[in-house]
Amino acid sequence: MDRIRIVGGNELRGAIPISGAKNAALPLMIASLMTDDTLTLENVPHLADVEQLIRILGNHGVDYSVNGRRERQDAGYSRTIHFTARNIVDTVAPYELVSKMRASFWVIGPLLARMGEAKVSLPGGCAIGTRPVDLFIDGLRALGAEIEIESGYVVAKAPRGLVGNRFVFPKVSVGATHVLMMAASLAKGETILENAAREPEVVNLADCLNAMGARISGAGTSTITIEGVTALSGARHRIIPDRIETGTYAMAVAMTGGDVLLEGARMDLLDKALAIVAQTGAQVTQTNEGIRIARNGAGISPVDVTTEPFPGFPTDLQAQFMGLMTMSNGRSKITETIFENRFMHVQELARLGAKISLAGQSAIVDGVPRLKGAQVMATDLRASVSLVIAALAADGETTVNRVYHLDRGFERLEEKLSRCGATIERISG
Ligand code: UD1
Repeated sequence: MDRIRIVGGNELRGAIPISGAKNAALPLMIASLMTDDTLTLENVPHLADVEQLIRILGNHGVDYSVNGRRERQDAGYSRTIHFTARNIVDTVAPYELVSKMRASFWVIGPLLARMGEAKVSLPGGCAIGTRPVDLFIDGLRALGAEIEIESGYVVAKAPRGLVGNRFVFPKVSVGATHVLMMAASLAKGETILENAAREPEVVNLADCLNAMGARISGAGTSTITIEGVTALSGARHRIIPDRIETGTYAMAVAMTGGDVLLEGARMDLLDKALAIVAQTGAQVTQTNEGIRIARNGAGISPVDVTTEPFPGFPTDLQAQFMGLMTMSNGRSKITETIFENRFMHVQELARLGAKISLAGQSAIVDGVPRLKGAQVMATDLRASVSLVIAALAADGETTVNRVYHLDRGFERLEEKLSRCGATIERISG
């Protein structure tokens, strides 16, 4: 198993190209199941989760081809991939595949809408809470699906097609919003989704579906209206830059000091998180090329943060922010409201000398003047990168074990950081 070795203490200076958003790429790839035509996605990041979803979609009959060289070209990291689901050959998504990545559960929406049936294993994914699927089931039932749970599978049927309806999400869910938006696009009549997720990835998916011929309005607000159509066509669509990757590197620079241009990053995708990074003492500026983050001699100020659905501070940046706060010059309180059990990075940060105590949904972080390198373990995707952030500023050497979590969501992390002056390398095996 690969490890990452980091020797802390260097400032970060230079430029980091921001990749296409993983959390937009996954639902967009799944949307390719909704048409027999070709969906071309630009700016697809090269990540383990993307490769895994390609395998899962292949199982249902989606062919794909990648433009140009598969390996990174110097100008950037993204790829253009063509997906074609000419025929759906299987409407079953088995446990072996779905358990590896929660988002693959989302195929239930397109399969049900296009084929009138789907049998999808209950999901796995990051171990960050119970992450149930009740909202998907209630929402699809509202569109007329018959759904049963049988031996760990969700079996959904709509032999006469789905029918538009009004559905109010009792809780904001990104995944359930994606799925209902896709399903309703091929339902008969109008669907109104209320209390829908407002994340930029939802807007990116709606834009793509509309380019495919769907009639969706209101994405990005909490009420989304979908006028069902009988079929969708192919389209060409560009994936937005990854706001979580952007925020992660912004926090890394705020941690180490220095001056880095996050190329292609967009401020409007993470206003709240960047405002918080600015409050810690970093300068954040939007330029024509991206976002520039700088911190000079000044220390890191403590800031309290509570995670919220978009446009609030994202849960996917909570661990990284905690990494930053471990060296603030005071006390900060970080409250997690989206997922229970999303504090697994706390004990690993403690190995580096961080002082953090947990009280229910909150972590109290008492900043320390120095961290010291140690052996640490990556526990989930975002938690593991918080260890990288802390290690970049720690004295001496840190080894992060189990880095496959990082590879799920961060494209060539060690290369991007080492180009900016970090001492970081991957040790294979
Ligand atoms: C997506 C993101 C993930 C991010 C999360 C919240 C992708 C691939 N993943 O995950 O990185 O952390 O949004 O921004 O885009 N819930 C229910 N019942 C359901 C569905 C969800 O109770 O049927 C709960 C979850 O347990 C959680 C909350 O709703 O407490 C929000 O989860 P949700 O927005 O659905 O997260 P994902 O779409 O899985």
